[in-house]
Amino acid sequence: MLGVTGSIAAYKAADLTSRLVEYGAEVFPVLTESAGRFIQPLTLQTLARNPAVSDLWAEEEGWQPGHIEIADRADLLLVAPATAHCIANFAHGQAPDLLTSIHLATRAPVLMAPAMNGKMFEHAATQANMATLRERGYRFVDPEVGRLACGYEGLGKLAPIESIIDGVVHLLG
Ligand SMILES: Cc1cc2nc3c(=O)[nH]c(=O)nc-3n(C[C@H](O)[C@H](O)[C@H](O)COP(=O)(O)O)c2cc1C
Repeated sequence: MLGVTGSIAAYKAADLTSRLVEYGAEVFPVLTESAGRFIQPLTLQTLARNPAVSDLWAEEEGWQPGHIEIADRADLLLVAPATAHCIANFAHGQAPDLLTSIHLATRAPVLMAPAMNGKMFEHAATQANMATLRERGYRFVDPEVGRLACGYEGLGKLAPIESIIDGVVHLLG
């Protein structure tokens, strides 16, 4: 399961999807509403060769809520890029949308690759939320220092795709 959230780095999820498929993974993209402003679901679904979903309320097939079915099927929930908002939602068990509902309903390991403005990343709230998740066994592919889309240099640039894939391989064996 590849969660994609509303970071400017969401376009990199296309390359990530393509590389994961090349690697032999079966990828199911789940976009937040904000992610859909940065990248078209069609791009991810074509590269993943699986439907890209984002609507919690699109319940057209079968009787079982879609998010429960997806959650049960996942071997890994990878969120890349992961926004500060998504990290906060995960840490606090909030489930306002499809991705966050899947997150609560799955028992798959969770790997997150944060991407955000350096001040957002270093904010005490974001750091506390990440610490909470780490205590629960969540893994992070740490962002890098670099030129950020917001115009600043800082820590918050999405980790290279290669490092994210290494993280996936490490968790899935
Ligand atoms: C142009 C633009 C770029 C953004 N980039 C980021 C980002 O890289 N990281 C981040 O945490 N939030 C970023 N945001 C803010 C998020 O989109 C916002 O917090 C949103 O509520 C995230 O929703 P989601 O976590 O459900 O995807 C950006 C917003 C805009 C308008």
